[in-house]
Amino acid sequence: MRMVDIIAKKRNGEALTEQEITFFIGGYMKENIPDYQVSALMMAIYYQGMTQEETAYLTKNIVASGDIIDLSPIEGHKVDKHSTGGVGDKTTFIVGPLVAAAGIPVAKMSGRGLGHTGGTIDKLESIPGFKVELTNQQFIDNVNKYKLSVVGQTGNLAPADKKLYALRDVTATVDSIPLIASSIMSKKIASGADSIVLDVKTGSGAFMKSFEDSKRLAKEMVTIGKQLDRQTIAVISDMNQPLGYEIGNANEVKEAVEVLQGKRVEDLRELAIELAAHMTLVAGVYQDYTEATQSLEKLIDNGEAFHCFKNLIKAQGGDIAVVEDLSKLPGSSYKVEVKSVQKGYIHEMEADEIGVAAMHLGAGRATKDDEINHGVGITLQKKIGDYVEQGDTLAILNSDEENVEHIIHIVKNAYGIKSEKPNNQKMIYEVIK
Ligand code: URA
Repeated sequence: MRMVDIIAKKRNGEALTEQEITFFIGGYMKENIPDYQVSALMMAIYYQGMTQEETAYLTKNIVASGDIIDLSPIEGHKVDKHSTGGVGDKTTFIVGPLVAAAGIPVAKMSGRGLGHTGGTIDKLESIPGFKVELTNQQFIDNVNKYKLSVVGQTGNLAPADKKLYALRDVTATVDSIPLIASSIMSKKIASGADSIVLDVKTGSGAFMKSFEDSKRLAKEMVTIGKQLDRQTIAVISDMNQPLGYEIGNANEVKEAVEVLQGKRVEDLRELAIELAAHMTLVAGVYQDYTEATQSLEKLIDNGEAFHCFKNLIKAQGGDIAVVEDLSKLPGSSYKVEVKSVQKGYIHEMEADEIGVAAMHLGAGRATKDDEINHGVGITLQKKIGDYVEQGDTLAILNSDEENVEHIIHIVKNAYGIKSEKPNNQKMIYEVIK
């Protein structure tokens, strides 16, 4: 078999066989196939696409390039959740404890943030003492005991994806649905859960801006899951504005805790319950959707989900005092108000620009090696549908620098204001099974 023939076949729009995909991933990992040939193949895939079978073979081979986490010592049906990334997305801190409170083991490996989106692991590290690195045995013991553990990615998961992603990043081939779907699903499958619930974001702060693309991605990932024997459900959810009101690290933990304590941050609570409902249904805990959502509402309202969150913090060495008294979480030196220059209704928000503004404050990373400042971020005062007068505060920048004119400018411009009231923003667009 020769790589040049595989490239030509795909360039001509033919489907590759499993053997050909195994040959190219294996050869690339052993460095028998050079970057320039794999780049050419990525570009051919970008233009010609892949069949469902090819995408599943690709995913299977990326998984096989590294370790597969063995979660079998954990009792029960393990369900993982994955978000394709957004701004202000702190659902893991609500969904994890909620599903754990319903009795389902959650063994979660999460990532760090890059660019306009934040990462669960960075956010957890804003809790003093919280350890995101545990031994495999501690991770498994914690899940067996408390039904919940969240750690950074360990082991050598899907190394072929790391190599392919780095190459796609510099060859303008990231935006290919089969390549994105196989990249995400390979990491989820290697993480070892029995079932996967995907939160596929759509809108201005999402990787996929249009609903059609988000739906194509969701369908592709659900199909890969089925072909590789993992029950997979995708919830397509709104990311036309940040989720909740807080963007940053400590302030996102704070908002999630407040929701667990019963505060009605409606979009955040709705999405968390929706995702948790699908997780509990695939695990067979409840009979139907109505029973699931009603039971999960109760588990928030009676404090059981919050209790599970506190167990998570204690079990991983975090200082529980900060959760009891949220003012003890890291904060910022200055609070700078961003004011509206006109009156009217907030019609739209460029959520990705709000994420970029938070990154410039220090809450996120422009490059992989940047340090995070856990205490800074943005607190929105207005969201889509709200009315503002000229001079009203749109958002507060929690900053460690006094002069943040350039960031004020970004946030101000991210708000689109019109005289007529917009239609209600929906949170859940579709569920793909
Ligand atoms: N996220 C991933 O993990 N992979 C992609 O290809 C794109 C987004």
